[in-house]
Amino acid sequence: MSIYIDDLNWRYATKKFDANKEVSPQDLQTLLEAIQLTASSYGLQPYEIIVVKDAALREKLKAHSWNQTQITDSSEIVVFANKTQITSSYIDSYLKDIAHTRGLNIEDLEGLKGMLESIIMKLNPEDQSNWAAKQAYIALGNLLSAAANLRIDTCPMEGFDVAKYDELLELKEKGLTTAVIATIGYRSEEDTTQFAAKVRKSKEDLITKL
Ligand SMILES: Cc1cc2nc3c(=O)[nH]c(=O)nc-3n(C[C@H](O)[C@H](O)[C@H](O)COP(=O)(O)O)c2cc1C
Repeated sequence: MSIYIDDLNWRYATKKFDANKEVSPQDLQTLLEAIQLTASSYGLQPYEIIVVKDAALREKLKAHSWNQTQITDSSEIVVFANKTQITSSYIDSYLKDIAHTRGLNIEDLEGLKGMLESIIMKLNPEDQSNWAAKQAYIALGNLLSAAANLRIDTCPMEGFDVAKYDELLELKEKGLTTAVIATIGYRSEEDTTQFAAKVRKSKEDLITKL
């Protein structure tokens, strides 16, 4: 079996973290680099990542996360906050970045600029935010796989109050909203979920080959 499949079988959505174990700064850097390298539609990366370590803030967040203990017992919370609106200035600064990085003239990117403006900016505000959130979920998936590769545990989480998170993390004023979060750290020996067999659709039910 491939090593990658071994990683995916090893991981599970951790319910109980060992509160005494911390992810090393070096491993955290690797995980954040995996997020940074994630693919996104047009390469726009319409999200920001907030890493929450502060214990007092995490206590507050836990109260708005169905009191799930992963919020306070994990090593860190990684918050995926998507842009609520894709503005022309955001697109312009992305195009400048491409031109600078690849040694191009900004005029060479007129075609891409026109496409981004006609496709993404034409979406209504709600659809723009949903599109941006979908991009953030790709980064979440990458984090889960990268962490499993390093034998670091994770729990992807949607069980929280988005409005309260946005307020406590001061996201609204930055044009962001919480898409999803992941807690990272090390499983507690007492977490019985780690011994439960994986429940997945059969390949026959999941996959159609045409
Ligand atoms: C987007 C997303 C949100 C989730 N939210 C929660 C959550 O709030 N709390 C939790 O304990 N598990 C949460 N889970 C974990 C899932 O229940 C779990 O991934 C699923 O049952 C498959 O099990 P496995 O990941 O352990 O293989 C979430 C998973 C995903 C992908």
